[in-house]
Amino acid sequence: MPQKIILPVLDGLSAAIFIIDGNRKITFVNKTARRNFDPDLVGLDFVQVIRNPDCLKAIEKIIKGRKSSQLEIGIQGTILTTYRVNISRLGAKSKPQDLENWRAIISLEDISPIREALTMRTDFVANVSHELRSPLTAISGFIETLKGTAKNDHEAREKFLGIMEEQSQRMVRLIDDLLSLSKVQASEHLLPKNSVDLVAIIKQTIATLSPLAAAEDVKINLEIADNIEAMVKGERDQLLQVFLNLMENAIKYGGDGNQVDVVLSAKAKAPGIAGPAFVVEIIDQGIGIPREHLPRLTERFYRVDTGRSRQKGGTGLGLAIVKHIVARHRGRLQIKNNDDRGASFSVFLPQ
Ligand SMILES: Nc1ncnc2c1ncn2[C@@H]1O[C@H](COP(=O)(O)OP(=O)(O)OP(=O)(O)O)[C@@H](O)[C@H]1O
Ligand SMILES: [Mg+2]
Repeated sequence: MPQKIILPVLDGLSAAIFIIDGNRKITFVNKTARRNFDPDLVGLDFVQVIRNPDCLKAIEKIIKGRKSSQLEIGIQGTILTTYRVNISRLGAKSKPQDLENWRAIISLEDISPIREALTMRTDFVANVSHELRSPLTAISGFIETLKGTAKNDHEAREKFLGIMEEQSQRMVRLIDDLLSLSKVQASEHLLPKNSVDLVAIIKQTIATLSPLAAAEDVKINLEIADNIEAMVKGERDQLLQVFLNLMENAIKYGGDGNQVDVVLSAKAKAPGIAGPAFVVEIIDQGIGIPREHLPRLTERFYRVDTGRSRQKGGTGLGLAIVKHIVARHRGRLQIKNNDDRGASFSVFLPQ
C-alpha cells in the first residue's frame, strides 16, 4: 500500500504507533504517540521513551529473530497508565549487518479504563460477598446454637429467632438495593418522558417517612418557595426513591437536631445544568459529614461510620442509587457539610 494511504491511517489510530530500526532508533511515530509522549520522538532510542525492562527484553527478542510479541506494561506518570504493547517485525528476518534497514512496529494501547472497570467489578463482588456473608454467618451460628445448647431454652430461642429474622431482613434489603441499583444503571441512558409533580412526590415521601420521623422524634419541615408549581420530566418511582433515601438518611444520621428541613425552590441557573432548574434541599442538624468523606460518599458501600450504618439497618447503597437516578434525570446532586451543624443534600433537576 502506498505511504500516502498508510500514514493517515496510522495517524487516525487511537493507539500510539512507533516504528523502530534494528538499533531501537525511532524512525516514525503517529499522531497519538506525538500527543501522548513527545512531539519530537524520531531519532531517539525507543528505550529512552518507554523505560520498561520487560518491553526492552521483548524488543531484543524481536531483533534476534522472533516474529511478534505482546505484553502489558504500567507507566507511572502523574497517574499510572496501563498499556497493551504489541511488537511485530516488519518484513524479512533481520540480518545483523543490516540493522539500519530492519524495521519493527510497536503499538501502545491505553487499556487503563478496562483495567479500572475490572478492578471495580472485583471490588464490588468482594464487597457484596462480604455484606451477604456477615448476616449469613450470624444466622448459621444461631441455627447451631438452637440445635444444640439452646434447644430447650424457650427464652433464648425467642431472642435468637428475633435476631435471625432481623439478619435475614438485612439480606433481603441488600438484594433489593442491588437489584434497584442495576435497574437504574441499565436505564441511565434513557431520558424520562413523563411530566411529574415534584411537590406531590416530596409530600408523599414525607408522609411515608412520618412513622420513622415520629419514632426518632424528628420534625420534618417543608418549605415551598412562593408556592411554585414544579413539574419536571421524570420517573415518579425513581424520584420517590431519591427523596426517600435522602430524607431517611437525614432522619437516621442527622436526627440528633430533631429537625429536618426540606426546601423546594426554582433557580435560573444551576451547577452543570444548561437551563433553569428546580432544587430540593434536605437539610439536617445532626453530626454532619467530615469533609474528607464527601468525595467518596456516593460510592457503593461507602459509609462514614460502618457500625452506625449497619446498626441503623443501612446497606451503604442508598446514595449510589440516588446518584445514578439523578444522573438519569440529567440533574446534579450536591452534598455539603454545614459549618454550624449537620449536612445538606441538594438535588438539582432541569425545569
Ligand atoms: N444526613 C447525613 N448525615 C450524616 N451522615 C450521613 C448522612 N447521609 C448519609 N450519611 C453517611 O453516608 C453513608 C452512606 O449513605 P447511604 O444512604 O448510601 O447508605 P446507608 O444509609 O448506610 O444505607 P442505605 O441507604 O442503603 O440503607 C451513611 O452510612 C452515613 O455514614
Ligand atoms: Mg441511606
